[in-house]
Amino acid sequence: MQFRDLQRQYEKLKDSIDKSIAEVLFSAHFISGEQVTALENTLADYVGVKHCITCGNGTDAISIALMAWGIGSGDAVFVPDFTFFSSGECPAAIGATPVFVDVKKETYNLDPEALEQEVKKVLTDGRYKPRAVIGVDLFGLPAEYKAIRRICDKYHLLLLEDGAQGFGGRIGEKRACSFGDISTTSFFPAKPLGCYGDGGAIFTDDDMLAERMRSIAVHGKNREDKYDNIRLGMNSRLDTLQAAVLQQKLQAFKDYELDDVNKAAELYTKCLSGVSGLILPTVTEGYYSSWAQYTIQLSQDIDRTAMQERLKAQGIPTMIYYTKPMHKQGAFQGTYSAEANCPVTEELCNRVLCLPIHPYLTEEEIEKVAETLKQGL
Ligand SMILES: Cc1ncc(COP(=O)(O)O)c(C=O)c1O
Repeated sequence: MQFRDLQRQYEKLKDSIDKSIAEVLFSAHFISGEQVTALENTLADYVGVKHCITCGNGTDAISIALMAWGIGSGDAVFVPDFTFFSSGECPAAIGATPVFVDVKKETYNLDPEALEQEVKKVLTDGRYKPRAVIGVDLFGLPAEYKAIRRICDKYHLLLLEDGAQGFGGRIGEKRACSFGDISTTSFFPAKPLGCYGDGGAIFTDDDMLAERMRSIAVHGKNREDKYDNIRLGMNSRLDTLQAAVLQQKLQAFKDYELDDVNKAAELYTKCLSGVSGLILPTVTEGYYSSWAQYTIQLSQDIDRTAMQERLKAQGIPTMIYYTKPMHKQGAFQGTYSAEANCPVTEELCNRVLCLPIHPYLTEEEIEKVAETLKQGL
């Protein structure tokens, strides 16, 4: 059993993916080919925003957004403590101070009450200027954007949605990657929509920001003349081969993958609900998850390592996302960022266990995972 089975996906999509790749090879337009523009249009349309700018990966996408806002030294950027490193790495890498905020135990996402408290604390402390919030759609579930937006409006903060894991999720009819002033995603192969290497995208409705971000992604180029560099930027482009692969995968994602991964999650929940010692992932009423992960919490008396080994012995791979709170990462030690107080995140890091999940998982496989897990309790 694979944790995320990209081989099964390729077997199913082989003809269309091979054909798309061959077209790029014949055209020999490996950078900025027509497939890139076509993909950007399709993605913007699907998400429901005006502009999509593809780039090299989800980390660059966050950095480009923060650079476009001119965030830097002296600025505080609020980031959930329970997330992948990039969410905090990007603000720190451009000189800003990530302020880590605790999450909710039930959804794993940013706790709006804790966010407001942290904003007030930073204002009282006075060393840093609150500038932006990064809301992360952890494990595929959109963050609580209504409440987060209210806080952003109250304290004049910019909102960045880090939808690296959230592509395909929704709140009501509004899709993930449309909730931020700028939103970003990742096409890392294991993400809900993944390519065959690194890739990312940025979304916004703002024309001026869109143009600035296109410039930053290509060495700060002038719109008309690529050799007239009007600002500092980076080299972060989605290559044509990845765009061609993504066009095919996006079709499958829309046609059935998103539905099928939701069915897989529902079956896990059905098989495991009511089992004592386990807390199952919840999807808030009116929300829809793209299930980047199916993450359960084991009670204190269960030995997580022993459980992982038991599952592994039956051929079932598991992962732990994440083992360490952001504020405890070595890179932040000795800085203001390390002073965070996030007890929920600390508890989650000790208790979470991610089970295999993807659209190609069979009912038998899900039942096997659930049975093996139950037997180990
Ligand atoms: C929440 C989150 N943000 C950002 C990223 C960065 O994406 P990439 O690996 O494409 O740089 C990831 C990827 O793992 C992620 O999970």
